[in-house]
Amino acid sequence: MARRLNWSDVTPKDSWMNRRAVLAGAGAILATPALARIEPAKSPLSTDAAPNTRAEITTYNNFYEFGLDKGDPARNARLLTTDPWEVKISGLVDRPGSYGLADILKDAALEERIYRFRCVEAWSMVIPWIGFELSHLLNKVGVQPSAKYVAFETLVRPEEMPGQQSAILDWPYREGLRLDEAMHPLTILATGLYGDPMPNQNGAPIRLVVPWKYGFKSIKSIVSIRLTDTQPETSWNIQNAREYGFFSNVNPQVDHPRWSQASERRVGAGIFAGREDTAMFNGYGDQVAGLYAGQDLTRNF
Ligand code: MTE
Repeated sequence: MARRLNWSDVTPKDSWMNRRAVLAGAGAILATPALARIEPAKSPLSTDAAPNTRAEITTYNNFYEFGLDKGDPARNARLLTTDPWEVKISGLVDRPGSYGLADILKDAALEERIYRFRCVEAWSMVIPWIGFELSHLLNKVGVQPSAKYVAFETLVRPEEMPGQQSAILDWPYREGLRLDEAMHPLTILATGLYGDPMPNQNGAPIRLVVPWKYGFKSIKSIVSIRLTDTQPETSWNIQNAREYGFFSNVNPQVDHPRWSQASERRVGAGIFAGREDTAMFNGYGDQVAGLYAGQDLTRNF
């Protein structure tokens, strides 16, 4: 595998922090060309597949806090205020606390990279995320030896998230990973895409991306990360345990009870393009299959 690039290999940290400050403000358009060109290095784990367009990535979303229709998040998510933002880190960690987003990013920016990952549900996209490995944050707060799982929660704010005014899901949206999954270098916290801060509809200001699992595992707008010794509840498993298991690894051999999961439709491919075969672990098998050695993936779906 290629040598891991640090942001510091590419540009002094000051320029990166300036760029973030400029982009985060109202002045994204005013950013000087010199600053706007600065980009973190591309992760060696990125796919070479062509990315979807920014328009596709930001107008075809699932974010039930803003409605059920794929276009609802783009229409409604502007209501969400994401500054200030704190992430509470709790449970089996040495340094629990509420961490401001700026604090988290101050250290993470050194490790921030572009990750061009495939994302799959019944449809698929390739998205150039900006993010950093979740393991960096977990190592910073110190995971205790008894921790076995990580539980995540999204913000609850019905006045800004109209979907939360009805009980379509049991709010807050919840997700969970086994600790080894959470520590895997493919598991990232994403803070932006296509070189810009994260659009609200994609889970601003910070969301999970786990590319070998179905899209619903990639929880958006995270306010809580808790280390536990028992398997956490997840929103879709609570909603319908028969259809959605804890692991939710992309697996074309295991059908959803109501549909085949053997193929996917690439968003933006055009009406004449056929469906594509879905790859085991969404094509990341070389990296992650070992996490499940000896596990029956039909039962542990
Ligand atoms: N996170 C929250 N908080 N609420 C949601 O409804 N939907 C999930 C996931 N994360 C969801 C969420 C689902 S079903 C998918 S497919 C992905 O977000 C979609 O992410 P994208 O819109 O950025 O492609």
